[in-house]
Amino acid sequence: MWLSGRAGAVPGSVFALMDAAKGEARAAGLTVTDLSIGSSDLPPPDAVLDVLRDATRDAATYRYPLFSDTAPLREAASGYLGRRFGVQVDAQSEVLPLIGAQEGLAHLLLAVTDPGDTLLLPDPCYPPYLGAAAVAGLNVVTLPLRPERGFLPDLGSVPDGVRPRALLLNYPNNPTSAVADAAFFREVAAWCRARGTLLIHDHPYAELTFGEYHAPSALEAGLDGVIELHSLSKTHHMGGFRVGFAAGDAGAVAALARVKGAVDFHPYLGIQRAAAHALGLPDAVGRAGAAVFEARRDALVPALRALGWEVATPQASMYAWTRVPVLRDSVAFAVRAARQTGVAVSPGAAFGAGGEGFVRFALVQPPEVLREAARLLGTVPIS
Ligand SMILES: Cc1ncc(COP(=O)(O)O)c(C=O)c1O
Repeated sequence: MWLSGRAGAVPGSVFALMDAAKGEARAAGLTVTDLSIGSSDLPPPDAVLDVLRDATRDAATYRYPLFSDTAPLREAASGYLGRRFGVQVDAQSEVLPLIGAQEGLAHLLLAVTDPGDTLLLPDPCYPPYLGAAAVAGLNVVTLPLRPERGFLPDLGSVPDGVRPRALLLNYPNNPTSAVADAAFFREVAAWCRARGTLLIHDHPYAELTFGEYHAPSALEAGLDGVIELHSLSKTHHMGGFRVGFAAGDAGAVAALARVKGAVDFHPYLGIQRAAAHALGLPDAVGRAGAAVFEARRDALVPALRALGWEVATPQASMYAWTRVPVLRDSVAFAVRAARQTGVAVSPGAAFGAGGEGFVRFALVQPPEVLREAARLLGTVPIS
Protein backbone atom coordinates (compact mmCIF):
# COMPACT_ATOMS: atom_id res chain seq x y z
CA MET A 1 0.00 0.00 0.00
CA TRP A 2 2.81 2.42 0.83
CA LEU A 3 5.14 1.33 -1.94
CA SER A 4 5.73 4.16 -4.38
CA GLY A 5 6.07 3.44 -8.08
CA ARG A 6 9.68 4.53 -7.71
CA ALA A 7 10.43 2.11 -4.85
CA GLY A 8 8.51 -0.66 -6.58
CA ALA A 9 10.69 -0.23 -9.66
CA VAL A 10 13.87 -1.13 -7.71
CA PRO A 11 14.72 -4.63 -8.91
CA GLY A 12 14.73 -7.50 -6.40
CA SER A 13 17.90 -9.42 -5.81
CA VAL A 14 18.81 -13.06 -6.29
CA PHE A 15 21.01 -12.73 -3.20
CA ALA A 16 17.96 -13.70 -1.12
CA LEU A 17 18.08 -17.10 -2.84
CA MET A 18 21.77 -17.39 -1.99
CA ASP A 19 21.05 -16.52 1.63
CA ALA A 20 18.48 -19.30 1.79
CA ALA A 21 20.95 -21.77 0.24
CA LYS A 22 23.64 -20.78 2.78
CA GLY A 23 21.07 -21.31 5.56
CA GLU A 24 20.30 -24.80 4.25
CA ALA A 25 24.01 -25.62 4.16
CA ARG A 26 24.42 -24.49 7.77
CA ALA A 27 21.35 -26.47 8.85
CA ALA A 28 22.89 -29.54 7.21
CA GLY A 29 26.02 -29.06 9.33
CA LEU A 30 28.28 -27.74 6.55
CA THR A 31 30.82 -24.98 7.12
CA VAL A 32 29.81 -22.03 4.97
CA THR A 33 32.62 -20.32 3.04
CA ASP A 34 31.05 -17.11 1.82
CA LEU A 35 32.75 -15.84 -1.33
CA SER A 36 29.60 -14.12 -2.54
CA ILE A 37 30.03 -10.70 -0.90
CA GLY A 38 32.72 -8.24 -1.95
CA SER A 39 33.44 -6.74 1.46
CA SER A 40 37.12 -6.54 2.39
CA ASP A 41 38.03 -8.75 5.34
CA LEU A 42 41.24 -6.77 6.04
CA PRO A 43 41.38 -4.09 8.76
CA PRO A 44 41.97 -0.43 7.94
CA PRO A 45 45.56 0.75 8.53
CA ASP A 46 46.34 1.17 12.28
CA ALA A 47 47.18 4.85 11.86
CA VAL A 48 43.70 5.46 10.42
CA LEU A 49 42.04 3.74 13.38
CA ASP A 50 44.17 5.84 15.76
CA VAL A 51 42.94 9.05 14.12
CA LEU A 52 39.33 7.89 14.41
CA ARG A 53 39.74 6.83 18.04
CA ASP A 54 41.22 10.22 18.98
CA ALA A 55 38.45 12.00 17.06
CA THR A 56 35.74 10.26 19.06
CA ARG A 57 37.25 11.92 22.20
CA ASP A 58 37.30 15.37 20.59
CA ALA A 59 34.04 17.16 21.33
CA ALA A 60 34.56 19.35 18.26
CA THR A 61 33.60 16.34 16.11
CA TYR A 62 30.17 15.79 17.65
CA ARG A 63 28.16 18.44 15.83
CA TYR A 64 26.69 18.42 12.34
CA PRO A 65 29.54 18.83 9.86
CA LEU A 66 29.01 21.77 7.53
CA PHE A 67 30.48 22.09 4.05
CA SER A 68 33.34 24.23 5.40
CA ASP A 69 34.17 21.44 7.86
CA THR A 70 34.79 19.09 4.96
CA ALA A 71 37.77 21.13 3.69
CA PRO A 72 40.50 18.85 5.14
CA LEU A 73 38.98 15.77 3.46
CA ARG A 74 38.41 17.66 0.20
CA GLU A 75 42.02 18.83 0.26
CA ALA A 76 43.28 15.31 1.04
CA ALA A 77 41.20 13.95 -1.86
CA SER A 78 42.57 16.61 -4.18
CA GLY A 79 46.13 15.83 -3.03
CA TYR A 80 45.57 12.10 -3.60
CA LEU A 81 44.25 12.63 -7.15
CA GLY A 82 47.22 14.86 -7.96
CA ARG A 83 49.81 12.51 -6.48
CA ARG A 84 48.37 9.29 -7.77
CA PHE A 85 46.92 10.23 -11.20
CA GLY A 86 48.44 13.63 -11.99
CA VAL A 87 44.92 15.08 -11.96
CA GLN A 88 44.46 18.61 -10.58
CA VAL A 89 41.07 19.28 -8.97
CA ASP A 90 40.03 22.38 -7.06
CA ALA A 91 39.27 21.24 -3.50
CA GLN A 92 36.59 23.92 -3.12
CA SER A 93 34.48 23.35 -6.23
CA GLU A 94 35.48 20.03 -7.79
CA VAL A 95 35.45 17.59 -4.83
CA LEU A 96 32.66 16.51 -2.48
CA PRO A 97 32.77 13.96 0.37
CA LEU A 98 30.37 11.03 0.09
CA ILE A 99 28.84 8.57 2.53
CA GLY A 100 30.22 5.87 0.24
CA ALA A 101 30.26 5.67 -3.54
CA GLN A 102 26.88 3.91 -3.56
CA GLU A 103 25.18 6.80 -1.79
CA GLY A 104 27.01 9.21 -4.07
CA LEU A 105 25.86 7.51 -7.23
CA ALA A 106 22.18 7.32 -6.24
CA HIS A 107 22.15 11.02 -5.40
CA LEU A 108 24.25 11.97 -8.42
CA LEU A 109 21.69 10.40 -10.75
CA LEU A 110 18.95 12.42 -9.02
CA ALA A 111 21.12 15.52 -9.30
CA VAL A 112 22.05 15.38 -12.99
CA THR A 113 19.09 13.69 -14.67
CA ASP A 114 15.35 14.11 -15.00
CA PRO A 115 12.84 11.24 -15.09
CA GLY A 116 12.76 9.64 -18.54
CA ASP A 117 16.35 10.61 -19.39
CA THR A 118 18.49 7.86 -20.89
CA LEU A 119 21.27 6.29 -18.85
CA LEU A 120 23.77 3.99 -20.53
CA LEU A 121 24.70 1.16 -18.18
CA PRO A 122 27.01 -1.78 -18.72
CA ASP A 123 25.59 -5.30 -18.56
CA PRO A 124 26.67 -7.02 -16.33
CA CYS A 125 27.03 -4.32 -13.67
CA TYR A 126 27.07 -3.72 -9.92
CA PRO A 127 23.37 -4.33 -9.10
CA PRO A 128 22.71 -1.10 -7.13
CA TYR A 129 23.24 0.82 -10.39
CA LEU A 130 19.92 -0.57 -11.59
CA GLY A 131 18.19 0.36 -8.35
CA ALA A 132 19.60 3.89 -8.42
CA ALA A 133 18.49 4.29 -12.04
CA ALA A 134 15.01 3.05 -11.13
CA VAL A 135 14.72 5.52 -8.24
CA ALA A 136 15.70 8.33 -10.60
CA GLY A 137 13.09 7.13 -13.13
CA LEU A 138 15.64 6.68 -15.90
CA ASN A 139 15.36 4.91 -19.19
CA VAL A 140 18.22 2.40 -18.99
CA VAL A 141 19.95 1.36 -22.21
CA THR A 142 22.42 -1.44 -21.60
CA LEU A 143 25.85 -1.82 -23.15
CA PRO A 144 26.92 -5.46 -23.21
CA LEU A 145 30.34 -6.25 -21.72
CA ARG A 146 31.64 -9.24 -23.64
CA PRO A 147 34.72 -11.37 -22.96
CA GLU A 148 35.90 -11.01 -26.57
CA ARG A 149 36.18 -7.22 -26.04
CA GLY A 150 37.89 -7.58 -22.67
CA PHE A 151 34.57 -6.67 -21.03
CA LEU A 152 34.84 -3.11 -22.41
CA PRO A 153 31.69 -1.57 -23.92
CA ASP A 154 31.34 -0.99 -27.66
CA LEU A 155 30.13 2.61 -27.89
CA GLY A 156 30.00 2.21 -31.67
CA SER A 157 26.93 0.01 -31.11
CA VAL A 158 24.92 2.96 -29.69
CA PRO A 159 22.74 4.35 -32.49
CA ASP A 160 23.64 7.90 -33.57
CA GLY A 161 20.23 9.25 -32.60
CA VAL A 162 20.61 8.18 -28.95
CA ARG A 163 21.66 11.11 -26.78
CA PRO A 164 22.15 9.63 -23.32
CA ARG A 165 22.17 12.02 -20.41
CA ALA A 166 24.84 9.93 -18.68
CA LEU A 167 27.08 6.91 -19.17
CA LEU A 168 28.12 4.97 -16.07
CA LEU A 169 31.28 2.86 -16.16
CA ASN A 170 33.46 1.12 -13.57
CA TYR A 171 37.06 -0.09 -14.14
CA PRO A 172 38.59 -2.09 -12.46
CA ASN A 173 35.22 -3.67 -12.95
CA ASN A 174 32.80 -5.37 -10.65
CA PRO A 175 31.87 -8.14 -11.42
CA THR A 176 34.18 -9.01 -14.33
CA SER A 177 37.46 -7.66 -12.81
CA ALA A 178 38.29 -6.24 -16.27
CA VAL A 179 40.53 -3.17 -16.46
CA ALA A 180 40.69 -0.18 -18.80
CA ASP A 181 43.61 2.04 -19.80
CA ALA A 182 43.89 5.82 -20.02
CA ALA A 183 43.39 5.75 -23.82
CA PHE A 184 40.03 4.02 -23.29
CA PHE A 185 38.88 6.80 -20.98
CA ARG A 186 40.07 9.47 -23.45
CA GLU A 187 38.02 7.84 -26.20
CA VAL A 188 34.95 7.45 -24.00
CA ALA A 189 35.18 11.03 -22.70
CA ALA A 190 35.42 12.35 -26.27
CA TRP A 191 32.39 10.26 -27.27
CA CYS A 192 30.43 11.60 -24.29
CA ARG A 193 31.40 15.23 -24.99
CA ALA A 194 30.28 14.87 -28.59
CA ARG A 195 26.82 13.70 -27.43
CA GLY A 196 26.35 15.95 -24.42
CA THR A 197 26.57 12.93 -22.14
CA LEU A 198 27.98 13.04 -18.60
CA LEU A 199 30.62 10.35 -18.03
CA ILE A 200 30.27 8.92 -14.53
CA HIS A 201 33.14 6.67 -13.52
CA ASP A 202 32.70 4.59 -10.37
CA HIS A 203 36.24 3.87 -9.11
CA PRO A 204 36.18 2.00 -5.79
CA TYR A 205 38.90 -0.47 -6.82
CA ALA A 206 41.43 2.21 -7.83
CA GLU A 207 44.16 0.84 -5.54
CA LEU A 208 43.29 -2.87 -5.61
CA THR A 209 45.62 -3.54 -8.51
CA PHE A 210 48.17 -6.31 -8.96
CA GLY A 211 51.77 -6.54 -10.14
CA GLU A 212 52.85 -3.71 -12.42
CA TYR A 213 49.28 -2.74 -13.29
CA HIS A 214 48.07 0.65 -12.01
CA ALA A 215 44.51 1.77 -12.71
CA PRO A 216 44.10 5.17 -14.40
CA SER A 217 41.50 7.74 -13.42
CA ALA A 218 38.82 8.78 -15.93
CA LEU A 219 39.64 12.34 -14.84
CA GLU A 220 42.94 12.02 -16.72
CA ALA A 221 40.74 12.61 -19.80
CA GLY A 222 39.87 16.08 -18.41
CA LEU A 223 37.28 17.19 -15.88
CA ASP A 224 34.81 18.71 -18.35
CA GLY A 225 31.75 16.42 -18.43
CA VAL A 226 33.43 13.73 -16.29
CA ILE A 227 32.77 12.87 -12.64
CA GLU A 228 34.44 10.07 -10.72
CA LEU A 229 33.33 8.37 -7.51
CA HIS A 230 36.04 7.18 -5.12
CA SER A 231 35.56 5.04 -2.06
CA LEU A 232 37.71 4.08 0.91
CA SER A 233 35.73 0.85 1.31
CA LYS A 234 38.12 -1.32 -0.71
CA THR A 235 41.26 0.80 -1.02
CA HIS A 236 41.58 1.25 2.76
CA HIS A 237 39.27 -1.55 3.97
CA MET A 238 36.82 0.96 5.46
CA GLY A 239 33.55 -0.38 4.01
CA GLY A 240 31.64 -0.02 7.28
CA PHE A 241 32.84 3.54 7.77
CA ARG A 242 30.84 4.69 4.73
CA VAL A 243 33.14 7.26 3.24
CA GLY A 244 34.29 8.25 -0.22
CA PHE A 245 34.33 11.30 -2.45
CA ALA A 246 33.18 12.55 -5.84
CA ALA A 247 35.53 14.61 -7.99
CA GLY A 248 35.37 16.16 -11.44
CA ASP A 249 33.17 18.52 -13.45
CA ALA A 250 32.33 21.49 -11.19
CA GLY A 251 28.75 21.68 -12.49
CA ALA A 252 28.05 18.02 -11.73
CA VAL A 253 29.70 18.31 -8.30
CA ALA A 254 27.58 21.39 -7.50
CA ALA A 255 24.40 19.58 -8.62
CA LEU A 256 25.28 16.63 -6.38
CA ALA A 257 25.98 18.97 -3.44
CA ARG A 258 22.55 20.53 -3.95
CA VAL A 259 20.69 17.21 -3.73
CA LYS A 260 22.82 15.99 -0.83
CA GLY A 261 22.12 19.25 0.97
CA ALA A 262 18.51 18.09 1.22
CA VAL A 263 19.52 14.63 2.41
CA ASP A 264 22.56 14.56 4.71
CA PHE A 265 25.17 16.56 6.61
CA HIS A 266 28.30 14.84 5.23
CA PRO A 267 30.06 11.95 7.04
CA TYR A 268 30.83 12.18 10.78
CA LEU A 269 33.82 14.49 11.27
CA GLY A 270 35.88 11.74 12.92
CA ILE A 271 35.39 9.55 9.87
CA GLN A 272 36.31 12.47 7.63
CA ARG A 273 39.54 12.91 9.59
CA ALA A 274 40.30 9.18 9.35
CA ALA A 275 39.60 9.21 5.60
CA ALA A 276 41.75 12.31 5.05
CA HIS A 277 44.58 10.61 6.93
CA ALA A 278 44.14 7.42 4.85
CA LEU A 279 44.29 9.37 1.57
CA GLY A 280 47.59 10.93 2.65
CA LEU A 281 49.28 7.62 3.54
CA PRO A 282 52.21 6.47 1.40
CA ASP A 283 51.21 4.38 -1.62
CA ALA A 284 53.03 1.42 -0.06
CA VAL A 285 50.20 1.02 2.46
CA GLY A 286 47.65 0.50 -0.32
CA ARG A 287 50.04 -1.80 -2.18
CA ALA A 288 50.37 -4.02 0.90
CA GLY A 289 46.60 -4.54 1.03
CA ALA A 290 46.44 -5.17 -2.70
CA ALA A 291 49.23 -7.77 -2.39
CA VAL A 292 47.03 -9.80 -0.04
CA PHE A 293 44.31 -10.00 -2.71
CA GLU A 294 46.90 -10.76 -5.37
CA ALA A 295 48.15 -13.78 -3.37
CA ARG A 296 44.56 -14.99 -3.05
CA ARG A 297 44.07 -14.61 -6.79
CA ASP A 298 47.22 -16.68 -7.29
CA ALA A 299 45.75 -19.42 -5.10
CA LEU A 300 42.25 -19.51 -6.57
CA VAL A 301 42.80 -19.08 -10.31
CA PRO A 302 45.11 -22.10 -10.81
CA ALA A 303 42.89 -24.21 -8.54
CA LEU A 304 39.86 -23.41 -10.74
CA ARG A 305 41.82 -24.02 -13.93
CA ALA A 306 42.88 -27.41 -12.60
CA LEU A 307 39.16 -28.24 -12.49
CA GLY A 308 38.83 -27.22 -16.14
CA TRP A 309 37.13 -23.87 -15.38
CA GLU A 310 37.72 -21.02 -17.82
CA VAL A 311 38.99 -18.05 -15.84
CA ALA A 312 41.11 -15.05 -16.83
CA THR A 313 43.81 -13.84 -14.43
CA PRO A 314 42.46 -10.61 -12.89
CA GLN A 315 44.87 -7.66 -12.89
CA ALA A 316 42.81 -5.79 -10.32
CA SER A 317 39.68 -5.77 -8.09
CA MET A 318 38.80 -8.35 -5.46
CA TYR A 319 37.01 -10.78 -7.75
CA ALA A 320 37.53 -13.68 -10.12
CA TRP A 321 34.90 -13.96 -12.86
CA THR A 322 34.66 -17.44 -14.27
CA ARG A 323 32.52 -19.30 -16.72
CA VAL A 324 30.31 -21.95 -15.16
CA PRO A 325 31.32 -25.23 -16.77
CA VAL A 326 28.54 -27.09 -18.61
CA LEU A 327 25.62 -26.00 -16.43
CA ARG A 328 25.02 -22.53 -17.89
CA ASP A 329 22.33 -21.48 -15.42
CA SER A 330 24.46 -19.53 -12.96
CA VAL A 331 21.76 -19.22 -10.30
CA ALA A 332 21.05 -22.95 -10.37
CA PHE A 333 24.77 -23.67 -10.11
CA ALA A 334 25.42 -21.21 -7.27
CA VAL A 335 22.42 -22.44 -5.26
CA ARG A 336 23.39 -26.07 -5.78
CA ALA A 337 27.03 -25.36 -4.86
CA ALA A 338 26.06 -23.53 -1.66
CA ARG A 339 23.62 -26.24 -0.58
CA GLN A 340 25.92 -29.14 -1.33
CA THR A 341 29.33 -27.78 -0.33
CA GLY A 342 28.73 -24.65 1.78
CA VAL A 343 30.75 -22.61 -0.74
CA ALA A 344 28.77 -19.52 -1.70
CA VAL A 345 29.65 -17.60 -4.88
CA SER A 346 27.62 -14.96 -6.70
CA PRO A 347 25.70 -16.14 -9.75
CA GLY A 348 26.55 -14.01 -12.79
CA ALA A 349 22.86 -13.46 -13.54
CA ALA A 350 22.67 -11.39 -10.32
CA PHE A 351 24.59 -8.70 -12.23
CA GLY A 352 22.29 -8.63 -15.25
CA ALA A 353 21.41 -10.86 -18.19
CA GLY A 354 24.93 -10.34 -19.56
CA GLY A 355 26.34 -12.12 -16.51
CA GLU A 356 24.56 -15.39 -17.25
CA GLY A 357 26.91 -18.34 -17.66
CA PHE A 358 29.42 -16.85 -15.18
CA VAL A 359 29.95 -16.84 -11.44
CA ARG A 360 31.87 -14.31 -9.36
CA PHE A 361 34.25 -15.28 -6.58
CA ALA A 362 35.06 -12.57 -4.02
CA LEU A 363 38.66 -13.04 -2.83
CA VAL A 364 37.71 -12.46 0.79
CA GLN A 365 39.30 -15.55 2.38
CA PRO A 366 42.93 -16.67 2.83
CA PRO A 367 44.60 -18.67 0.03
CA GLU A 368 44.19 -22.07 1.70
CA VAL A 369 40.44 -21.51 2.18
CA LEU A 370 40.10 -20.49 -1.48
CA ARG A 371 41.95 -23.63 -2.64
CA GLU A 372 39.70 -25.82 -0.51
CA ALA A 373 36.61 -23.97 -1.82
CA ALA A 374 37.71 -24.70 -5.38
CA ARG A 375 38.24 -28.37 -4.53
CA LEU A 376 34.74 -28.57 -3.03
CA LEU A 377 33.20 -26.89 -6.08
CA GLY A 378 34.83 -29.54 -8.22
CA THR A 379 32.55 -32.08 -6.50
CA VAL A 380 29.33 -30.30 -7.56
CA PRO A 381 27.50 -32.14 -10.34
CA ILE A 382 27.36 -29.73 -13.27
CA SER A 383 24.77 -31.19 -15.55
C1 LIG B 1 31.38 -1.03 -8.37
C2 LIG B 1 31.07 -0.68 -6.97
N1 LIG B 1 30.67 0.56 -6.68
C3 LIG B 1 30.39 0.93 -5.43
C4 LIG B 1 30.50 0.04 -4.38
C5 LIG B 1 30.15 0.48 -3.01
O1 LIG B 1 31.08 1.42 -2.57
P1 LIG B 1 30.85 2.17 -1.20
O2 LIG B 1 31.15 1.20 -0.10
O3 LIG B 1 31.83 3.31 -1.23
O4 LIG B 1 29.44 2.64 -1.17
C6 LIG B 1 30.90 -1.28 -4.63
C7 LIG B 1 30.96 -2.26 -3.55
O5 LIG B 1 31.08 -3.44 -3.73
C8 LIG B 1 31.21 -1.64 -5.96
O6 LIG B 1 31.62 -2.86 -6.28
